[in-house]
Amino acid sequence: MNWTPEQIQDQSGKTFLITGANTGLGYETALELAKKSAHVILAGRSEPKLVEARARIAELVPAAQLDIAVVDLNSIAAVKTFTEGFVQSGKPLDVLINNAGIMFPPPGHSADGFEAQFGVNFIGHYVLTALLFPVLKKSKHGRVVTLSSMAHRNGKIDFGNFKLEKPFEKFREYGQSKVADLIFSFELQRRIGASGGDVISTACHPGVSKTELLRTDKPEMIETVAYMDANQGSFSTLFAATEAIEKFAYIGPDGEGEVNGYPAPAFIAPYAKDAEIGTQLWAYAEKETGVTFEF
Ligand SMILES: NC(=O)c1ccc[n+]([C@@H]2O[C@H](COP(=O)([O-])OP(=O)(O)OC[C@H]3O[C@@H](n4cnc5c(N)ncnc54)[C@H](OP(=O)(O)O)[C@@H]3O)[C@@H](O)[C@H]2O)c1
Repeated sequence: MNWTPEQIQDQSGKTFLITGANTGLGYETALELAKKSAHVILAGRSEPKLVEARARIAELVPAAQLDIAVVDLNSIAAVKTFTEGFVQSGKPLDVLINNAGIMFPPPGHSADGFEAQFGVNFIGHYVLTALLFPVLKKSKHGRVVTLSSMAHRNGKIDFGNFKLEKPFEKFREYGQSKVADLIFSFELQRRIGASGGDVISTACHPGVSKTELLRTDKPEMIETVAYMDANQGSFSTLFAATEAIEKFAYIGPDGEGEVNGYPAPAFIAPYAKDAEIGTQLWAYAEKETGVTFEF
């Protein structure tokens, strides 16, 4: 049977934090979770956009429990400012959805000197997850969902090119950031397992969905390349965030080529499962960010 968000159990009492929740897949994920009575924290880099997204959801779901959080993943300092406040507040968090992302921006660096896509899509989420992990550990349902992409299949980790050391190639750089996300998700699950913890780390991809992702490249392209609207694109995330899933699961649409369809186990490039690369990437992130996980 094709899985849809209608099948999500009541999520009362659970808190989800979704990065990049003001538009695209993150917004649709937030909307569907709000419909199921979850407490949803919409995170993003723009407060006005978050306020507007919260109002749109509140109009559609008047009983929605919504908060907003300004977190700019382009900056380690900004992520730390948010997480310090959140941890100090003592508020619970059950599910962190690492959804925010950029694709094909002009060549440039994050605030900390990483190639922008690597900085936002991977480094920002690495730091966010590490610093929220103490809160996730306290939850009975602790889970981290990280969005990757079919682009991970062509992605390779190049330790000599995280900071634009090589001439910018948009496909290569985006692919690197998205395979890093998938490698991170698996390595996190390995480390949680080794520590005896019960937080789940899982990953998903949305096929090819109509969102604002190509806004800085060729925004009009999305009309021709997208196979699903943003709402259906969010199904993989919603499944990974709410259903009982196997460890090391990677969920994507089940249609031909995984471009569209309904949530199912997706193809994982063997490279992404390589534990040795996982160890090396983890060590790099620890060293470069100065942030470590406490399992
Ligand atoms: N759409 C697809 O077909 C597709 C395919 C494969 C994977 N994905 C992945 O799906 C995820 C969601 O993308 P989308 O398609 O929904 O794109 P989108 O419509 O462009 O949404 C991206 C979200 O990320 C936020 N964001 C960007 N930079 C940020 C930063 N520095 N700090 C915090 N938030 C930031 C954006 O906020 P602003 O609006 O303020 O910029 C926006 O809310 C991404 O990880 C993407 O790689 C998408």
